[in-house]
Amino acid sequence: MEAAYDVDEIRRDFPILSTKVNGKPLVYLDSAATSQKPIQVIDAISNYYRTYNSNIHRGMYDISIKATEEYERSKELAAKFLNAGSYRSIVYTKNVTDSINLVALSWGEANIKEGDTILVTAMEHHSNIVPWQLLAKRKKARLEYVGLKDGMFVDMEDLKEKLGRGPKLFAFTHVSNVLGTINPAKEMTEMAHKAGATVLVDGAQAAPHMKVDVRDIGCEFYGLSSHKMLGPAGIGVLYGKEELLEAMEPVTGGGDMIRSVSFDESTWNELPWKFEAGTPNVEGGIGFGAAIEYLNRVGMSRITENDLRLIKYALKRLGEDSSIQVYGPGLEHADRKIGAIPFNINHVHPHDVATIFNSEGVAIRAGHHCAMPLVTKLIGEPAVSRMSFYLYNKEEEVDRAVDAIEKVKKVLRVMSQ
Ligand code: ALA
Repeated sequence: MEAAYDVDEIRRDFPILSTKVNGKPLVYLDSAATSQKPIQVIDAISNYYRTYNSNIHRGMYDISIKATEEYERSKELAAKFLNAGSYRSIVYTKNVTDSINLVALSWGEANIKEGDTILVTAMEHHSNIVPWQLLAKRKKARLEYVGLKDGMFVDMEDLKEKLGRGPKLFAFTHVSNVLGTINPAKEMTEMAHKAGATVLVDGAQAAPHMKVDVRDIGCEFYGLSSHKMLGPAGIGVLYGKEELLEAMEPVTGGGDMIRSVSFDESTWNELPWKFEAGTPNVEGGIGFGAAIEYLNRVGMSRITENDLRLIKYALKRLGEDSSIQVYGPGLEHADRKIGAIPFNINHVHPHDVATIFNSEGVAIRAGHHCAMPLVTKLIGEPAVSRMSFYLYNKEEEVDRAVDAIEKVKKVLRVMSQ
């Protein structure tokens, strides 16, 4: 029988969670921005630096061979984690932003022509808007947005209609970093394929929280960032279907990505190295591998369950106070939400909220969350506060956040309605 989910045992693996901020135990509710790191990841990176630091793919000596093996093993782990089928489909990038830019600069340059349409949704992070704006401008193509239903779900009727106009590419987020909405990625991909579009899914907020099966979703491209899923920053994944990656040109040239170089021309290395010029983020790959092993050990389905329980508990607690507005799916749709809860307190600027939270040792993010069109146009606020959860959070921390809200209201004299 599977052991019960023991959040206190998990917390013991995260040294930062026993630190204090402003004299109070840290409550970290900003994992959508970046996750905390377990000792297993910290040790894997430290161990590399202490005992086998060396460059990879080049050395004929033991420590370089070991570094190469560990770095490449992490790609095997990433391929299994996503059910990608082969490590050849796993290109290491800096993060999901870099992954999307790679697709825009390589696949996009070759396939988007003047007059073409690129379709995204209105709930995208800037990383899934700006690369397409740049590409559309270069190519004289159009960028269109699928609207939202009830301000929280992709409007499937609008999606159907806009796919009917024949976009070349449909790029959408698997989970919204602001609303926490889980999009039906497989269904949306199938609809896009029927309309003849290539599909890219931004998995930055999904991969940390739920089992992702890229071959079941069927998308051509899927991106994620290691730092949001217990790993180090500066390393991310671009999953791509092999036949597409094979056909794509590299966008960065240099060492390691070539098979041969003459004074006049070069030929490219095998996948995935064709897209990885220069000495890669070796410690990042090794740390990311340790993060995937950690997530596998806990189990993605149990992480999803814990996150969902916390979301429900937090929505219930926030719902008890009429001076709080919560955006995105509420309790009645909690099964379509993961990770994040955006909220505002009547007439209080989110920056004041986050500052007073900080005085109570509670870390949250406030602002437009790199999704300005969604926050300013659809939610209709210049900024929102956001609590976000991960596998190490517990109900008592939600209670500490609710206590911090009471302090905000007391300090700024906010009345409950
Ligand atoms: N994309 C990150 C966030 O949502 C930085 O906070």
